Amino acid sequence: MKTATTAATVLAICNLAAASSHFKRQNDTGVGLAYSPPYYPSPWMDPEAEGWQEAYAQAKAFVSDLTLLEKVNLTTGTGWMADLCVGNVGSIPRVGWRGLCLQDGPQGIRFADYVSYFTSSQLAGATWNRDLIRDRARAMALEARDKGIDVLLAPAVGPLGRFPTGGRNWEGFSPDPYLAGVAAAESVKGIQETGVIATIKHLIMNEQEHFRERGNGISYGYSVVEAISSNVDDKTMHELYLWPFADAIRAGAGSVMCSYQQVNNSYGCQNSAVLNHLLKEELGFQGFVLSDWAAQHTGVAAAVAGLDMSMPGDVTFNSRTSYWGANLTNAVLNGTVPEYRIDDMAMRIMAAFFKVGRTIEDAPEINFSSWTRDSDGPVHWAAKEGVQTINQHIDVRRDHGDLIRRIAAQGTVLLKNEGSLPLNKPKFVAVIGEDAGSRVGGPNGCPNQGCNSGTLAAGWGSGTASFPYLITPDAALQRKAVEDGTRYESILSNWEHELTASLVGEPDATALVFVNANSGEGFIEVDGNVGDRNNLTLWNGGDDLIEIVAAHNPNTIIIIHSTGPVVVSEWYDNPNITAILWAGLPGQESGNAITDILYGRVNPGGKTPFTWGASEESYGVKIVYEPNNGDDAPQGDFDDGIFIDYRWFDSQDDEPIFEFGFGLSYTTFEFSDIRVERSNASEYKPNTGESIPAPRIGANHSSDYTDYVFPEGFRRIDQFIYPYLNSTDPKQTLGDRFYGDEAEDFLPPGATDDSRRPAHPAGGGPGGNPQLWDVMYTVFATVTNTGSVVGEEVAQLYVSLGGPDDPAKVLRGFERIRIDPGTSETFRADITRRDLSNWDTVSQNWVISDCPKSIYVGNSSRNLPLHAALQ
Ligand code: NOJ
Repeated sequence: MKTATTAATVLAICNLAAASSHFKRQNDTGVGLAYSPPYYPSPWMDPEAEGWQEAYAQAKAFVSDLTLLEKVNLTTGTGWMADLCVGNVGSIPRVGWRGLCLQDGPQGIRFADYVSYFTSSQLAGATWNRDLIRDRARAMALEARDKGIDVLLAPAVGPLGRFPTGGRNWEGFSPDPYLAGVAAAESVKGIQETGVIATIKHLIMNEQEHFRERGNGISYGYSVVEAISSNVDDKTMHELYLWPFADAIRAGAGSVMCSYQQVNNSYGCQNSAVLNHLLKEELGFQGFVLSDWAAQHTGVAAAVAGLDMSMPGDVTFNSRTSYWGANLTNAVLNGTVPEYRIDDMAMRIMAAFFKVGRTIEDAPEINFSSWTRDSDGPVHWAAKEGVQTINQHIDVRRDHGDLIRRIAAQGTVLLKNEGSLPLNKPKFVAVIGEDAGSRVGGPNGCPNQGCNSGTLAAGWGSGTASFPYLITPDAALQRKAVEDGTRYESILSNWEHELTASLVGEPDATALVFVNANSGEGFIEVDGNVGDRNNLTLWNGGDDLIEIVAAHNPNTIIIIHSTGPVVVSEWYDNPNITAILWAGLPGQESGNAITDILYGRVNPGGKTPFTWGASEESYGVKIVYEPNNGDDAPQGDFDDGIFIDYRWFDSQDDEPIFEFGFGLSYTTFEFSDIRVERSNASEYKPNTGESIPAPRIGANHSSDYTDYVFPEGFRRIDQFIYPYLNSTDPKQTLGDRFYGDEAEDFLPPGATDDSRRPAHPAGGGPGGNPQLWDVMYTVFATVTNTGSVVGEEVAQLYVSLGGPDDPAKVLRGFERIRIDPGTSETFRADITRRDLSNWDTVSQNWVISDCPKSIYVGNSSRNLPLHAALQ
């Protein structure tokens, strides 16, 4: 679909400032590397912020009483494997507080037993079902809470999914920022209503695994030390990558994880433009920023740039050193880090804690250890100290299997159906492919799911859980076949070509071919893929397998388990291939869910949350797989701007194989009667005024160094990170990094300023200026089920913003609606001010341009039968 007006005419009638004044891709002279402008001081809490008042009052009562050492203990992890969870902050025994337990992740609880393995977030995104997405997050968090977890390291919206080959895209929902933002907000609400703090991650532009971390280059055999820099302009930052984070923060997210890689050549966890300016000033974030694991590379600089919590606390895993801990104590004592900053860190952490309803007194017991399944063992795993019962093996799953089955079925996308589905007591079913079967070594046989064998139900890395069971497609389909009296045979290998050809060539065979493509986090390499996929082809000879089956069987049905799109160009239109399904990463109920769909117990209604291009090249972007800047940090230039996924295909006038938002049903739907109602939204006013001056919480800290050394007789645990100093001489106190008298000189101008700050024009509340969410229009349309079975349709609303630099259209509303055959339902969607705005780099605010705007309604990004102009 193209906008009616050409770029030239649009330019003449509408305008929007284009110059970038804040985030720059280049330095001021227009040459050199992308640059991230400093922004100081670090915005302190706003105790009156919407939704945070009560939490801040409680935090103040608690933090007022803390000593400097106790505050530092809140901010610094105890070290890798130092305690039971993947991340832990120190306790405050004096007040009976056990500290915090932070645990992955986005698809279920990592490193624990008797937990559920949910669907990937991406497959949840494919449901386009707000309620289900929230139910999923709530269920995950209930399990987390019952294991004693305080902070769940989920949801993820970064990577957003700029690269179709991006290794961790499945940990997020969709490369569309609107869909990702809605899903993230629902997930934050679902998690936090159980009393667990949600972490929206990874802020920001963490789009690829290659070179994501400092030192990755060396491990690949290059002499590049620094991590890649994702280079982005201000408009793209706002209109694309920051968008879903804003939704999560508006929904009340208690914490944000900053990312490993650099943004415009400044590391994610010490980038003042990202943390101070965008996150805390503009988006008014009131919770705490925690580092990704060992993503912190400085002490004081990170503190003044907006980092609030160091994870896992040591400089590198088990280094016995920390940028914070004692260093932070010392930096506050010697005045390098302003006292208000440590107060602010402690307040932000405790406000998030109270906001979700936690109390000091009844912290749930941490009843599992991340590091062993043994019942008894050391609490302090790295030091092998403190042997006691560390795994109580508590079953926290409830009836979540049913929910997982529903999500997996609702997310499954029917991409092609020539009438062979749903199956109805077929005479003979032949299931082909190792992706239908179980894994040698069991479903948890590879640590962090770091392998690809058997059916693919989860990607690899930190975003993994432990399967309590895994229903394979082979098991579920065989059970169904036996029930129906169907003959059933499976060949659970991709390499038995002759046997396969002969089996599927038998008369009356319905051939179900299961294939996959996997990816994950860069710390594990699988089949030569270092997290990111090397290409978009199917794994383990999947394409050959499909060709062989389709050559011998006229009723071949393909089921794809994958972490994103694969190239299907060679075979998707083969007439012998009568149906294609994408089942994503379905989690523990894989086989049941696909059986529900194949047999029509559930009518498919999932819509693909990304575009399926004809080739890898058609996406117009490529991961930086090799150094491209000599021995210096690789440079990842986001030259495609806001044009990723369907926006890119639209801009190139390129027809994808399956477009974003597409998915078939066993019934048919029709759209009619579009109607637009205009609301009387008040005029948009830039946020004005000033912040309060930096508050100091509690009594002044004593400046007597003897108050801060290790207490007499204190027995230290090996590798554990403490807030205590080694010596009363500030210059002797630390064995590792020291920021002594010279410190003030290296702090950027303004870094310690504690006076009132002017308001950000686009700020004013969590997520940004509250007026951005004013409803400007409400759109109504009628959706009719014109087929003969009940079905669910995802009505989608797209907006054309109409400017020369705008995509042809962007998603701005959707609803999954259940409709009985022969009846109609009304689709209703609100369009907010934000939905119609562009980011103006000059005024540093959102503006609605005077470019002509239109809306489109339909059931995919390329099937939009209804449209209207916005007046
Ligand atoms: C690194 C990953 O990037 C992050 O997502 C995860 O939460 C931490 N490791 C902790 O496991």
